[in-house]
Amino acid sequence: MWCFFKVLSFILIFGTTHGAFRYRRSVNPEANMNISQIISYWGYPDEEYDIVTEDGYILGLYRIPYGKINNDNNSVQRLVVYLQHGLLTSAISWISNLPSNSLGFILADAGYDVWMGNSRGTTWSRKHLYLKTDSKEFWAFSFDEMAKYDLPASIDFIVKQTGQEEIFYVGHSQGTTIGFITFSTMPKIAERIKIFFALAPVFSIKYSKSALIKMAYKLKSVIKSRVDVYMSHNPAGTSVQNMLHWSQLFNSSHLKAFDWGSPVLNFLHFNQTTSPLYNVTKMNVSTAIWNGESDLLADPEDVKILLSKITNRIYHKSISYYNHIDFLFGLDVYHQVYHEIIDIIKGHL
Ligand SMILES: *[C@@H]1O[C@H](CO)[C@@H](O)[C@H](O)[C@H]1NC(C)=O
Ligand SMILES: *[C@@H]1O[C@H](CO)[C@@H](O)[C@H](O)[C@H]1NC(C)=O
Ligand SMILES: *[C@@H]1O[C@H](CO)[C@@H](O)[C@H](O)[C@H]1NC(C)=O
Ligand SMILES: *[C@@H]1O[C@H](CO)[C@@H](O)[C@H](O)[C@H]1NC(C)=O
Ligand SMILES: *[C@@H]1O[C@H](CO)[C@@H](O)[C@H](O)[C@H]1NC(C)=O
Ligand SMILES: *[C@@H]1O[C@H](CO)[C@@H](O)[C@H](O)[C@H]1NC(C)=O
Repeated sequence: MWCFFKVLSFILIFGTTHGAFRYRRSVNPEANMNISQIISYWGYPDEEYDIVTEDGYILGLYRIPYGKINNDNNSVQRLVVYLQHGLLTSAISWISNLPSNSLGFILADAGYDVWMGNSRGTTWSRKHLYLKTDSKEFWAFSFDEMAKYDLPASIDFIVKQTGQEEIFYVGHSQGTTIGFITFSTMPKIAERIKIFFALAPVFSIKYSKSALIKMAYKLKSVIKSRVDVYMSHNPAGTSVQNMLHWSQLFNSSHLKAFDWGSPVLNFLHFNQTTSPLYNVTKMNVSTAIWNGESDLLADPEDVKILLSKITNRIYHKSISYYNHIDFLFGLDVYHQVYHEIIDIIKGHL
């Protein structure tokens, strides 16, 4: 059943898209390359770091320190932009188009120091100090842990490595969810974020029309009777527990932590018998938001709820024909979104 899930999930979650992949060559030599190889393939400098989270996960963190354009003085201190990928993808999503249409390369060429994280469970973050990756314990995580451990570890590392106290954060899809959670619950990390750029933001999924979410919701009862199953498998680069967490939020206008299934287990994790609500109103980071009105996952109605809770909104744009994946693969994504991000960083918008 999960194999079926794996094959279909990518298509189902994103639905049909505006122009995705259309301009790609039929054979992509970089299809079988890892992240460093793709970055080098296009002639950009790449750096790769293994960082360790507080709970022992080893994550692959990638950097494009400067671009092919604007690289005449490499000792100049460049502003840091951190990119956080979404559900079922990895840092590859920022570099998988031609350089002229990939946010990772565009930002490097615009003069920024680009860092790309990988959440636990993705191909590039599937190691642990002492847990085996085929153990239940390894896969017992959802986006709660990505927000509580992975993102803080990545940001702390970048701040130490670059000496820059403040960075820009770009999230797509679940990458925005993680940001909303971390920045509303960990003020010390939130202080590091100069601007949060949220692409296709997901906070609640009450109105989501994503077939993947609906399918996960229907499977919930099946999964629940077999705890060992959901803890030990990974559909397409995330844990079953992560999908189950999303299914728990189906039809709700609130974002809550993962319900571990019993008052005792919840108490062990949260010091209370029910899973706690996340309150994004507590986040005071300057936030710029782009969403698509044809987005099946980040439904415009859910985005409306989110917008009403964002305390420090500096920009919002809704693009009528954009679906979830167009923020990565849309033909005109540079003009609709990416150049606006750069304009905002430069203070021009
Ligand atoms: C990526 O590929 C290069 C070249 O084969 C290799 O040196 C590097 O270790 C690989 N990185 C990962 C994370 O697999
Ligand atoms: C490069 O930048 C550094 C730091 O800003 C500066 O000290 C140096 O003079 C610059 N070099 C050139 C060739 O512009
Ligand atoms: C969603 O919630 C509404 C009420 O808020 C309820 O009527 C409906 O049956 C729920 N749908 C599902 C699939 O749980
Ligand atoms: C757990 O909650 C109780 C009461 O809500 C509080 O007194 C206690 O300090 C909390 N423990 C931890 C470890 O946070
Ligand atoms: C969320 O946080 C805001 C700001 O701190 C507070 O006013 C509000 O009561 C909180 N909402 C909930 C449901 O806790
Ligand atoms: C929120 O951030 C602004 C600056 O961006 C600051 O002036 C304000 O005091 C902050 N509010 C809270 C409640 O921390």
